[in-house]
Amino acid sequence: MITIRHFEPDDWAGVWAIIEPVFRAGETYAYPSDISEASARAQWVEAPAATFVAVEGSKVLGSYYLKANQPGPGAHVCNCGYIVAGSARGRGIAGQLCEHSQRQARERGFRAMQYNLVVATNEGAIRLWKRHGFDEVGRLPGAFRHPRHGFVDALVMYKALGEPGG
Ligand SMILES: CC(C)(COP(=O)(O)OP(=O)(O)OC[C@H]1O[C@@H](n2cnc3c(N)ncnc32)[C@H](O)[C@@H]1OP(=O)(O)O)[C@@H](O)C(=O)NCCC(=O)NCCS
Repeated sequence: MITIRHFEPDDWAGVWAIIEPVFRAGETYAYPSDISEASARAQWVEAPAATFVAVEGSKVLGSYYLKANQPGPGAHVCNCGYIVAGSARGRGIAGQLCEHSQRQARERGFRAMQYNLVVATNEGAIRLWKRHGFDEVGRLPGAFRHPRHGFVDALVMYKALGEPGG
């Protein structure tokens, strides 16, 4: 059974094991591909408002962070990033994380969720986010330098979450 719960410090090794290959590949997120473990931890776990893990027993299979997308007058819109272990993909874990993040966001008073840089070649992710209610609201031409495909478009995806508590 898969459980989604708050990140705890002991989870880091498991989280790093699944996010490191994604960051190194540089195909889906705009982190430097040579990012250090400490910097990855700072950005995935320490800077966000919250980080969650999907676990099966003691094994971390997925993780997401939740943070305000902008400060001040933009702080009612949140942003999340999701990664699922390569060996656990296609089981609906990202879908569960996405739904969980929307509930968390509503509980924290966010009114919308924005994905800033969904790489256009990440077709499975785009299908998934659309299925979970996100609209493609913008296309940034050539905004992502893909290691194999060169400069590719990135999508801005957005979902209104409704009134807090509504
Ligand atoms: C994108 C990513 C998070 C998706 O994770 P995932 O857990 O495999 O996603 P899901 O299983 O929820 O959905 C993926 C597919 O599995 C299918 N699926 C869902 N539940 C399923 C189940 N119980 N059994 C089998 N397949 C299932 C979905 O229908 C979906 O199919 P589709 O490709 O036809 O749309 C993952 O591939 C990943 O970490 N990629 C690298 C990082 C990344 O791109 N993050 C997103 C950046 S925007």
